[in-house]
Parts: sequence; C-alpha cells; structure tokens
Amino acid sequence: MTSSDNKAAQTLAALGATEPARVSELFAEILARFDGEVAAVHDDASWKLFRDAWLGRKSGVLTLITDNWLKPATPELKRVVGAELNKLRGHVEAQIEAKRVAIEAGADDAALARERVDLSLPGVTRPVGTHHLIRQVFQEIEDIFVSIGFSVVEGPEIETPYYNFEALNIPEFHPVRDDMDTFYIELPKGASSPLLLRTHTSPMQIRTMEKRQPPVRVIVPGKVYRRDNPDATHSFAFHQVEGLAVDTDITFCDFTGTIEYFVKQFFGPGVKTRFRPSYFPFTEPSVEFDVTCVFCGGSGVSAGGGTCSKCKGAGWIELFGAGMVDPAVYGFVGYDAKKVSGFAFGIGIDRLAMLKYGIDDIQVFFQSDVRFLRQFP
Ligand code: FA5
Repeated sequence: MTSSDNKAAQTLAALGATEPARVSELFAEILARFDGEVAAVHDDASWKLFRDAWLGRKSGVLTLITDNWLKPATPELKRVVGAELNKLRGHVEAQIEAKRVAIEAGADDAALARERVDLSLPGVTRPVGTHHLIRQVFQEIEDIFVSIGFSVVEGPEIETPYYNFEALNIPEFHPVRDDMDTFYIELPKGASSPLLLRTHTSPMQIRTMEKRQPPVRVIVPGKVYRRDNPDATHSFAFHQVEGLAVDTDITFCDFTGTIEYFVKQFFGPGVKTRFRPSYFPFTEPSVEFDVTCVFCGGSGVSAGGGTCSKCKGAGWIELFGAGMVDPAVYGFVGYDAKKVSGFAFGIGIDRLAMLKYGIDDIQVFFQSDVRFLRQFP
C-alpha cells in the first residue's frame, strides 16, 4: 500500500489538512498516483483489479475519500473537498472507461492479427486418387454385360478343392490340376476340408447354380492366384471375369453371338473374332477365342513395315477360354442336364487390359508406380 492509500484511509484532521490549499495538494497527489497507475494497466484482468481498487463501493479509493475526508470535514473545508472529489471522480471514471475501450480494441487487433488468413498463400493440394486401370477395365466389362441382361456376383477368394476342382469336373488326379495345384492354406489338424486360394473364378459357376434356378446370367469379377513364375504375361495374383448363362434353350449361336458382341463393344467395331477348339473339363465343346490383332489391325505387319511384334505376324491374338457348360457339371448342382444348356467363359483381365491399352508388362499393374497409374486417370 502506498502512502496515498494511507492518506485516503485517514481523516483530513489526522493528516493535518486544515487549509483548502492543503486539501487541493492532497487531491493533486492522489490524481498523480492515479495517472501513474492507469498507465501500467494493459489487459482485461489488471483493468478489473484497477477499477475495483479505485471505484470499488466498499474500499475503493474514492469511497475512502468520501468516508474519511468528505463526511467528517469541517463546514469550511467541505465545499472544497466536495469540489475536488467531483473533479477527481470525473477524471478517474473517464480514464478507466477510456482504458477499457483501449484494451478491448487492442484485444480485437491481437485476435485479428492472430487469426489473419493470408489469402495470397497457395492452398493445400489434396491429390484426388483414381481407379486403378484393372478396376476401370472391370467396370467397362461389367457395363457391357449388364447392358445385355447379366448381373454381377462375387465370391470367396479362399475356396475348397470341391468348388475349385471337383464340382467343375476336375477329379483329384486329373492332369489339368498340375497347372493349378497352387496355394493351400495351412489349417489345424482335423479341419473338415483343405482350403486354397482359388485359381480361377469358375468356382462361382457352381456356387451360383447351387443357389439359383435357371435362367442364370451372371458375371463374376475377382482376384485369382496361381503358382506361376512372374514374367511379362504371368503373375501369381491376377484378375478374371467369369461368365455363365444357363437356360432351357441356350445354343452355341447364343454363345458366339454374346462373345462377339462383348469383344466388339470392348475393342471397337473393327475387330473380328474367331474360335479354336480347346479343352476345359467343365465345358464341352471348349474353345479359345482369338481377336484380330489390335496393334496391326490383323495384317501381321507393324506400322514400321516389319512383322508385328505383338501377334508375331499371325494377325490374331488369343483372348480367353470358354465353352458350352459340360452336362457333368449340372450333376453337381442338381440341374437336369436334359432340360438346360448354357455357356461359360473366363476372361483374364490383366492381359485384356494390356492388349487394349498397349501395355507390354503385366507387372506394372502390381507395382503402384504413380507414373504408370497417372496415365489412366
Ligand atoms: C481358366 O482359368 C478357366 N477357368 C476359364 C474358363 C472359364 C474356361 C469358363 C471355360 C469356361 P485359363 O487357365 O486359360 O482358364 O485362364 C484364363 C485366362 O487367365 C487366360 O486366358 C489368361 O488371360 C489368364 N491367366 C492365366 N494365368 C495367368 C497368369 N499367371 N497371369 C496372368 N493372367 C493369367
């Protein structure tokens, strides 16, 4: 507490102020102290303390002066004390209010400075991803088949040998298993059936026919796995789209017409298709579909005049395997082979995408190199 505080707490008589001039001096001292203190107030919290110290009703300086100087003053001094006190109160109140306004304005300025957004700064770029080319090709194929009445189903990537082989007419020691005897899952002893990563999407033919009665028209996009060594056209994980149509009157013409429609929609009207005899245990007859080389237009000659390196001069490129569903397969799903007929196909999507988009190494699909991916936004 300063001496001025003490003075406000004492009576004029105790301070020995018996003359108006001395009273004015005391007020001048108080005023000077106020001016010194008000200059040091810079924030809201100290302003509140300061206001209470001077204007507080119970023990503020002005209340003390009223109680200790004015009220007990002699009649001769009362007039001058009253006048000086009014002057002091006017000054104190005006200064305290001015300080409040200044502090608020300062706080606003500080907040503005703190929250200022520099619109000239470049924004944060968030790169937007795109679908992988394989996903895009899946979509193209789905759109084509959905437009002619097929629906899309998906199935498990982990399969039992029953669905992957046996129900597709591939018994345990059939030689075609050699190509596909593949990734088996290690299971606890006593597991009811071995499990493997499916080697093709064909198991979904069985699962679909088990669940649905003819007419059936489905395509099955998905991932498949084989113990193939990686090279430019082989990967141990790749993609297929299975197709299956079964009804009471499906003919070989429906089959070739559907495939031809798909190939023309996918590659463009200029390409031609042909089929060659092939073998799959679950189709009979089985065929391999070829398409005229999309690089040399089927001429076998490259743009530069030499032999086309893609079709090796043949003018044809092998596309995928297919066939009429083998009646033996119907036996596994409870269909009456005498009443129904149908066709199935299994398209290798990675190689199809390579053909359409001129990609010469299947491995780029799995390397996630954005320089490659960005070429197919
Ligand atoms: C099959 O997988 C049969 N399930 C297809 C089928 C379905 C025939 C329905 C008849 C009826 P294949 O083993 O030929 O067939 O494989 C089909 C396609 O998968 C091939 O034409 C090829 O494009 C692709 N393919 C096979 N192995 C690989 C591999 N390691 N890497 C990339 N693509 C492959």
